Amino acid sequence: MTLEDRRNMVRSVLRWYRKNGRDLPWRRTRDPYKILVSEIMLQQTQVHRVMQKYTEFLKAFPTVEKLAAAKPADVIRIWKGLGYNRRALYLQSAAQMVVDRHAGTFPSELQTLKQLPGVGEYTARALLSFAFGESVVMMDTNHRRFYQRVLFGRTPRSDEKLLRMAEQTFPKRSAYHWNQALMDLGQFVCTERSPVCKLPFLEKYCRACAGVGRPPKKIPRKNTVRFRDSDRYYRGRIVDALREEGKIIDSTLERLCGDISVVRKEKIIDKLEKDGLIKRLKASIVLP
Ligand code: ADE
Repeated sequence: MTLEDRRNMVRSVLRWYRKNGRDLPWRRTRDPYKILVSEIMLQQTQVHRVMQKYTEFLKAFPTVEKLAAAKPADVIRIWKGLGYNRRALYLQSAAQMVVDRHAGTFPSELQTLKQLPGVGEYTARALLSFAFGESVVMMDTNHRRFYQRVLFGRTPRSDEKLLRMAEQTFPKRSAYHWNQALMDLGQFVCTERSPVCKLPFLEKYCRACAGVGRPPKKIPRKNTVRFRDSDRYYRGRIVDALREEGKIIDSTLERLCGDISVVRKEKIIDKLEKDGLIKRLKASIVLP
């Protein structure tokens, strides 16, 4: 792509976003605490589910100090419906680290952000871009797909390569809007299911649309475990019951795990305890 093409493509994407971008609550703030809450929630949960919970969560824990000082049980309770409950505890540990190590002010360097529990390369960059307005590229599945298709066509490239090329492509002075725009493009246009995009302004520049490269060989689907047969299903069931009941006695636990072996049930309980999601008492369990 020539420099001129690149400039036009970027301009078109930003124009598209101005017209079609979603008005999401975490796009109305630059508060790093609120951005972190949204990003941790969005890691494994869809936008429409996160929308309601985000507001409720921030009402309960409006500041990083409030979250840091909360009872873990209350944080776990409010996480209901989002799944992957461990994220609630990571988020609280991150808040505690910000309070204890950084006097309540979020750090603004990539490496320091990555030391916060639950914050990896992607989330650290999201904080830099969305909270601190820094000129950085980020790489969630939507960004990755966009860079891969537009810049390289169908031959798959490594994340390092994509990041390097993305850095030469993204608009340094509009990084915030660019990064948000690619989220929405990935959601509505350059979707996983539609490998050929429907927007003329993008099609013109997109190497995948032009048929460049060879698509990866079809990888046979792994034999995935049915959700109802997974440990995650039982973990969720147990934590949900605790949210309702506060405390569950061993016989209730037996019923919740009715159809699995005792050994497997014990393993699941051990892991929940190790993750800090439950506390074991004599003949019952409770939220921490
Ligand atoms: N997923 C993660 N961050 C997001 C954002 N800012 N907007 C939409 N989806 C997201």
